[in-house]
Amino acid sequence: MKALVLSGGTGSRLRPFSYSMPKQLIPIANKPVLERVLDNIRDLGVTEIGIIVGNHVEEIAEALGDGSRLGVEITYIPQESPKGLAQCVQLAQDFLGDDDFVMYLGDNMLPEGITEAAAEFHALRPAAQVLVAQVEDPRAFGVAEVDATGVVERLVEKPPVPRSNLALIGVYFFTPAIHEAVDSIVPSARGELEITDAIQWLVTNGSTVRAQEYRGYWKDTGRVEDVLECNQMLLDGIERRVDGEVDDQSVLIGAVVVEAGARITRSFVEGPVVIGAGTVLEDSHVGPHTSIGRDCVLSGTHLDYSIALDGATISAVRGLHGSLLGRSAAVTGIDLASRHHRLVVGDHTRVEVAA
Ligand code: DAU
Repeated sequence: MKALVLSGGTGSRLRPFSYSMPKQLIPIANKPVLERVLDNIRDLGVTEIGIIVGNHVEEIAEALGDGSRLGVEITYIPQESPKGLAQCVQLAQDFLGDDDFVMYLGDNMLPEGITEAAAEFHALRPAAQVLVAQVEDPRAFGVAEVDATGVVERLVEKPPVPRSNLALIGVYFFTPAIHEAVDSIVPSARGELEITDAIQWLVTNGSTVRAQEYRGYWKDTGRVEDVLECNQMLLDGIERRVDGEVDDQSVLIGAVVVEAGARITRSFVEGPVVIGAGTVLEDSHVGPHTSIGRDCVLSGTHLDYSIALDGATISAVRGLHGSLLGRSAAVTGIDLASRHHRLVVGDHTRVEVAA
């Protein structure tokens, strides 16, 4: 079995982040989503992984290399523009050959893994097997209608009026039967070759497609809110480990990870929190549910339920909550007496100021 990971796309819902970095590299509890995806695939014993990459190819290749650090062998497959999930399968046909494969969307988080789903696919080997989860509002997803035995009767991509509450989640198991399907469909109204339509083509043409309900935690990290919620979920599972320096005027409560080379002075850290190597915290109050990357500097700052990426600096800002701060971002508080705010804000940036 091989794996195909989709890591192209525009990430429009995660702008401005996705202008300068691929959304799949956003760290959750200080580890990029894509790396967590590859871990889950390697846990299946699958090591030959094709990754579809768009215009952020260099950055993804720099982060993952040839995969040897993660115990896998990566083949990068370029996609000129994001023309749909089924087009990704077409582009990967040479890499995939006649093997069964698992297709995994590179922005989907399933921290409890997919080994059970893979075992069911191997045991029953339908033409395709999708994973589904019950959601409150399925309109933003592919939606499946499934009979009592787990056989898929119908699939529709992002229907305005969903006929079930079962959303397709970002992991699919395929036999080579999918190749004829992706070559037989036409682009959808939004101009993409939809994998949902290709799987529906299999159903229409008499192949068996099965759905397995995924009962673990699942999140499509397409929006800032989702990234922060997922960060919270993963931080809830960490254990305390303090390898960096903490002075005796600082207090660390609960599950706090301080990487070697980080320094905490006169600060209060309320876990769960992770603090990356080389980061300095001074006179600050951090956490709970906060991930701080490497080489950040926080001074005189109160920050909770947030993520700061590598190299971010925050000084003299209190009450930061639900924030996602980009690499080397600088946030500076100014004297309250000045009674004004000064903002230098780029395209698609979101700013919420306490008024
Ligand atoms: O998250 C689950 C949903 O993912 C499913 O319910 C939908 O049926 C499925 O179509 C997909 O919908 P999204 O609108 O969320 O897909 P998105 O455009 O975010 O793309 C998913 C991943 O695939 C993401 O990592 C980017 C990558 N991608 C996407 C396209 C369209 C590519 O690599 N190439 C592409 O052409």
